[in-house]
Amino acid sequence: MASCRGKPMISSLVFLLVALSISLSQGFIRTESKIKSGVFLSPKLEMNPGSVANPYLFDIDFPRGHIGLKAFDAEVVDEAGKPVPLHETYLHHWIVEPYYVRKGSKLPQREMFRNHGFSRQDHESNLDSRSDMILVKNGGLCRSGVLRHYFGLGSETRKTSTYLPDPYAIEIDNPEDTPDGYEFKWLLNIHAIDTRGVEDKKGCIECLCDLYNVTIDEYGRALKPGYKGGLYCCYDKTQCRVKNGFDNGEKTRTLYLKYTVRWVEWDSSVLPGQVYIFDVTDSWKKPEGSIGDNSQEHICHVEYEVKPCKHNGDGCVDVRKKSLTMPFSGYIVYGVAHQHAGGIGAALYREDGEGICTSMPKYGNGDEPGNEAGYIVGMSSCYPEPVKVSYGETLTMEFNYSSTVGHTGVMGLFYILVAQQLPEPVSSMPRLFQRSVSLLAFLVATVVVAVVVLIAAVVYRRQNREDGYQSLST
Ligand SMILES: *[C@@H]1O[C@H](CO)[C@@H](O)[C@H](O)[C@H]1NC(C)=O
Ligand SMILES: *[C@@H]1O[C@H](CO)[C@@H](O)[C@H](O)[C@H]1NC(C)=O
Repeated sequence: MASCRGKPMISSLVFLLVALSISLSQGFIRTESKIKSGVFLSPKLEMNPGSVANPYLFDIDFPRGHIGLKAFDAEVVDEAGKPVPLHETYLHHWIVEPYYVRKGSKLPQREMFRNHGFSRQDHESNLDSRSDMILVKNGGLCRSGVLRHYFGLGSETRKTSTYLPDPYAIEIDNPEDTPDGYEFKWLLNIHAIDTRGVEDKKGCIECLCDLYNVTIDEYGRALKPGYKGGLYCCYDKTQCRVKNGFDNGEKTRTLYLKYTVRWVEWDSSVLPGQVYIFDVTDSWKKPEGSIGDNSQEHICHVEYEVKPCKHNGDGCVDVRKKSLTMPFSGYIVYGVAHQHAGGIGAALYREDGEGICTSMPKYGNGDEPGNEAGYIVGMSSCYPEPVKVSYGETLTMEFNYSSTVGHTGVMGLFYILVAQQLPEPVSSMPRLFQRSVSLLAFLVATVVVAVVVLIAAVVYRRQNREDGYQSLST
């Protein structure tokens, strides 16, 4: 019959267009469907009002094998698994860092860490065959024995996205990279401060030395003159001053860091990304008349002090900038900053001032975990269209703090993920363009289908008219 004539043509055309738009959109590698997720609990922390815990926990539970890490999210919970708010236990920071350990080695790992890993300044002698423990470090830039971890955040943990965009991931435990006789493990450092019943919560979380009655650091060395507060005064087992008459009894509680890891099994569809951490306190200076990064050490001080401004008003912003020369070529696909309370924003720029990433703090305005008033409960993450950076290029970071009141022990860190390579179709065609191509294909398909349907209808009508049915319907 006449009505059937047009249909095979329409359906084959529709099929063709659907197939076309599917093949076009295959440029977006769908990693989401392959993502695995695991929830783990750290070893326990025993906390009392005013107490500080800063343990290095070796060989923690973690997904094993040759995987690509996608995200690491965490929060402090109590024995019942209930989230603990920051105004009770302040999470100063946590960091996770992989390492190799010699199979069957007998030294306690903490000892190895101190003797071989932690004090080792030399990046290149990493694979020292005499070490029982070999730290696996991020891409850089700090060489002073700090900030070499893969993931790490603080109070902002609950509302900060650590998810690395597809198809990128951090490659973990590639069997080809494992030194003979070693196995791959993970180290977790948690720094928590219990502020229940303390005299001055802000002072305790900013580690004011007076409140901790500390005059020597963790290693027994006298503090630098003028050092008012920071990490050297709130190390493991120090105690912040509690209110006079505060009943300290029966208040011991057991806490855990609950962490959720997301990962994919490693395969050729996953593209590796390297983590770099930039520190605004980095002492590095551009050597005269040279590009590149090799000639100077990056001594990262990690923390700094914000002095209160002299005149109250809108000018009370402490702006700190640092320019660093990049020792890599690649594409920035993710970025996030780390700031402490008082922070009001951070950014990463190219030398010409073009913005790469702005990461802004979110402050809470309630009591419940994830929304604690006065605390930074999240930092915004950046997912830029891949930003190409060339070896020797200078990037500048900027960290702003409110200086209406002073702050000790604040930080200015910028984390970025650098991919060596972009997905194949995307490297020849920018992603946005590709997206609009498949959108265009869809629109064209819709229009073509509509036109074909219209023509078919007209043909059908005309044929019906010829068959003499037309007179019946009018
Ligand atoms: C502070 O430390 C000193 C000596 O280190 C000690 O004598 C004093 O009792 C401490 N004060 C408090 C309040 O713990
Ligand atoms: C930091 O503060 C300066 C001066 O107020 C401002 O120009 C700049 O945009 C701020 N940067 C960020 C990242 O908020």
